[in-house]
Amino acid sequence: MTAPTRNQKLIDFVDRVAALTTPDAVVWCDGSTEEYDRLCQEMVDSGTFVRLDGEKRPNSYLCRSHPSDVARVENRTFICTEKKEDAGPTNNWMAPAEMRATLDKAFAGCMKGRTMYVIPFSMGPIGSPIAYNAIEITDSPYVVVNMHIMTRVGTAVLDSIGEDGFFIPCVHSVGAPLADGQADVPWPCEPDIDNKYIVHYPETREIWSYGSGYGGNALLGKKCLALRIASTMARDEGWLAEHMLILGLESPDGERTYVAGAFPSACGKTNLAMVLPPKGLEGWKATTVGDDIAWIKPRPDGTLRAINPEYGFFGVAPGTNYKSNPMAMETLRANCIFTNVALTDDGDVWWEGMDGEPPAHAIDWKGNEWTPASGTPAAHPNSRFTAPAGQCPTIDPAWEDPEGVPISAFLFGGRLSSTFPLVYEAFDWQHGVFLAASMGSEATAAAIGQESIRRDPFAMLPFIGYNMAEYWGHWLTFAEREGLKLPKIFRVNWFRKDDNGKFIWPGFGQNMRVLEWIVERVKGRTEAVESPFGMMPSYQAINWAGLDFGRDKYHGITDIARAGAVHEADALKDYFGQFGDALPAEMEAERKALEDRAKGAPDVWSSAA
Ligand code: OXD
Ligand code: MN
Repeated sequence: MTAPTRNQKLIDFVDRVAALTTPDAVVWCDGSTEEYDRLCQEMVDSGTFVRLDGEKRPNSYLCRSHPSDVARVENRTFICTEKKEDAGPTNNWMAPAEMRATLDKAFAGCMKGRTMYVIPFSMGPIGSPIAYNAIEITDSPYVVVNMHIMTRVGTAVLDSIGEDGFFIPCVHSVGAPLADGQADVPWPCEPDIDNKYIVHYPETREIWSYGSGYGGNALLGKKCLALRIASTMARDEGWLAEHMLILGLESPDGERTYVAGAFPSACGKTNLAMVLPPKGLEGWKATTVGDDIAWIKPRPDGTLRAINPEYGFFGVAPGTNYKSNPMAMETLRANCIFTNVALTDDGDVWWEGMDGEPPAHAIDWKGNEWTPASGTPAAHPNSRFTAPAGQCPTIDPAWEDPEGVPISAFLFGGRLSSTFPLVYEAFDWQHGVFLAASMGSEATAAAIGQESIRRDPFAMLPFIGYNMAEYWGHWLTFAEREGLKLPKIFRVNWFRKDDNGKFIWPGFGQNMRVLEWIVERVKGRTEAVESPFGMMPSYQAINWAGLDFGRDKYHGITDIARAGAVHEADALKDYFGQFGDALPAEMEAERKALEDRAKGAPDVWSSAA
């Protein structure tokens, strides 16, 4: 097939990869519906896909991965910078030359017997000043159809790259060449985890991924490009590539405020991205711009404007239901790919936590007969849906605006059962960076005030493409940028528990009450009280219309025990210590300031009143 481009760099890249990997054929993807349908049909014919019932789940498919290939492989994810310290202490590092030699061997002949697809894709609206173009080469048709949903794929991207435009080259192989006459399997991959490689060369903006066909290991636009490579580009170019949802909040008088939020896994990030205002707050409307990644650039008017670089949702299925996330359930009604969920007898999908009774019989994610008595999950806990974002009923009217949406607040949250209040606002930008750098979720259910926190700074621990401490420094520089309207920064925690280990805060739609307070703070229309952790709402500052939530309960999720706060300041000393000289002095200064405030606080600080 002749290349549908005159970009010589691109033609050379494709030729070089083809010469190395020796596929049987090379196909340039055009992003058309015809291409999507054809590849899906080929996968149905080969046994990789099951077509779901046309009435229950129109134009949708089920796929089962190999049981060894079910998640991102963080210990096989590498940041290959020339100097080890540039990757920092939280990343796996290997020297680029050494890694290139290793990968040259792995990729040699690895596409034999397969078709090599060339996927031109854009992260963000094509041609947006915040977006970037890229090319993923892959030998997986599953990757091609998922990329169709997750990114903007096609000839328009080649036009946007033009004859000499910039693109980020990404190479992926499942690592399963076929010998002459060898039959294929439904989910080819390299079964030995030690032979899988998810490799980033941030300095030259390249991605090479070998051995896995699953999720972020293989859909290279997502974590590899939009976070690891983009975070390095953002550092170099003065913007932010973040692991954040983007949410529009429209007040009863029609004024819309956008917020972006970072949460580690298992904190309900997708649910918050599609939140529905609860009873009592009917006048409010929440709209979804993105559920996972935000690219945020300072624009000439002084705003920080964000796009969702993705085009679809790649969400965790188990636990998604009409109570936890009705808008996701509506998004999943058609045109989706489901990976590693269960197949019901009537040709639909099912996962643990879906509404209603479990089916009496199903085929589980491994392809085995399953009943509720089986004692094993029918869907893998990390089973996924791939769904077009445009199908979300709450999708924001500006979600495809090439100029992005202006961000007025950043939210950072973890899963913490004690000590940390429902919501608190940073005193200023530097304090906010400290709050984000120190966030995380509880590692174990530990004694009150003594929780061991698995730190996940900015929810970027697995996704930062350079030294984490340097990344905090990059965030700090925004305070010095002339003319920039800095968003306010907040920490939130939906997960405080009572003495019986029960969640106190109802969460889900009720989180809108906290978002309303945040919007009012941004607008300067509501008061806050100073606590050791930050500025907090008093009981009456929250809108309780339609919810019976008394002062006692409120104090249960907002009180701060001095012992807990002192312990936090102490624990951060060790945590920050690992970054050595790379740690910005501002972070230690903020830690010390927290220590001083905590030590001077009463035994139990309360927003009282
Ligand atoms: C994801 C993740 O899949 O953060 O989005 O792990
Ligand atoms: Mn994510």
